[in-house]
Amino acid sequence: MARDGAAYVCQSCGAVHSKWAGQCTACQAWNTLVEEAQARQPGAITPTRATKARGLALETLQSTSVGPDRILTGLEEFDRVCGGGVAPGSAILLSGDPGVGKSTLLLQVVASAAARGANCVYISGEEAVDQIRSRAARMGLGASAVRLAAETSVRDILDGLKREAFDLVVVDSIQTLWSDQHEASPGSVTQVRAAAGELVRLAKKRGTAIIMVGHVTKDGQIAGPRVVEHMVDAVLSFEGERGYPFRVLRANKNRFGATDEIGVFEMGDAGLREVRNPSALFLNEGGERSAGAAVFAGIEGSRPVLVEFQALVAPSAYGTPRRAVVGWDTGRLAMVLAVLEARCGLGFGARDVYLNVAGGLRISEPAADLAAAAALASSALDVALPQDCVVFGEVSLSGDVRPVSRMEARLKEAAKLGFSRALGPAAAIEGAPFKVTGVSRLGDAVRRIGEDDWS
Ligand code: TYD
Ligand code: MG
Repeated sequence: MARDGAAYVCQSCGAVHSKWAGQCTACQAWNTLVEEAQARQPGAITPTRATKARGLALETLQSTSVGPDRILTGLEEFDRVCGGGVAPGSAILLSGDPGVGKSTLLLQVVASAAARGANCVYISGEEAVDQIRSRAARMGLGASAVRLAAETSVRDILDGLKREAFDLVVVDSIQTLWSDQHEASPGSVTQVRAAAGELVRLAKKRGTAIIMVGHVTKDGQIAGPRVVEHMVDAVLSFEGERGYPFRVLRANKNRFGATDEIGVFEMGDAGLREVRNPSALFLNEGGERSAGAAVFAGIEGSRPVLVEFQALVAPSAYGTPRRAVVGWDTGRLAMVLAVLEARCGLGFGARDVYLNVAGGLRISEPAADLAAAAALASSALDVALPQDCVVFGEVSLSGDVRPVSRMEARLKEAAKLGFSRALGPAAAIEGAPFKVTGVSRLGDAVRRIGEDDWS
């Protein structure tokens, strides 16, 4: 039987059960329930003592008071992803694979913000103060006014942060923290949730912006319960492919800004360098584009970004041909292949198909359909696209090529980078800075690629 005030929390999914069981009914995992002394939930109704209601204070949408200014860290790529600087009193979770550069990024963020007069603290539960110092020295931040602490006790951290008015605090990482209110070990769901909850409360109460680091597990989940994501105001992820120096900061949730914004960085010997013009970075520099390559004119957040789609269609040695994708959606590839087969007469049945987005960027825009299809058709037909051509457009199941958002901005960026023609939806022709081969059917695009006809 459940004891009074005890609850059983699944360490895999965070579901709360009233009694112990061998299997979690929410996520079906075995042996994951751990007893947790239940701190009284704020707002929970105590059955024995009726509390008197105080009425509801209703407000209007109009307000005469102006909200406090954002904290501009001076790292523009970071500020933009946050929605124009860090909102005071906000709680942000930064997630990413181990070694991707989260600690490096946040050390630069606080150092840069401190240089602009913000009162900043960097608390690490993973590194000793000396280690952080030597890293900072290597990155040329040795003279920064940031203050450091190596601490894992939530109680000590909260106590320390109450002693002064801090603007921005980094806690690296949420998995190393432990609260003496709970018996579970650091990194467990119980501890992560409790520590995050305490930090979020402090952020709201004191107006201190707190950035917490959260490691992700192999399957891309932030270790610990999803509830941390619900508690914070913004969830940012820091991504990068192994072997590439590029790192992309993305907002997955943001109460203070748009979620499709990206920040691009390059990891070097002295830390992360901001990349103001990502298009130049993601394009395969200099080299001739061969059959199977198509340059996609994309939009990431508010910025146009050009990236190269690379496809390889090759005879399969196996009974079941392979389909492998890096940087794009597998389901979307299956759809584009099916449309190419059914509407354009290209056969992929006994052939392996590989599709790669160069540079390690992940593309999720539907506007990339036509670029992927063009790369696939170019490889299947063994005809290269013109070197100076960009591609964009959405492809429907019926084989139509549909217009996409912000076509002018895409073409302008392409013109800026020396491209002088485009393959896209017919609606893109008007007002274009150069020749656009407008197509309304995918079959038209494939025919033009096959016949090398760009008249
Ligand atoms: P780190 O910020 O410690 O990653 P995380 O906190 O996400 O685990 O970065 C670790 C990697 O970054 C490590 O492999 C070394 C590399 N790095 C550089 O290449 N240059 C640098 O200036 C720094 C500080 C790190
Ligand atoms: Mg780290």
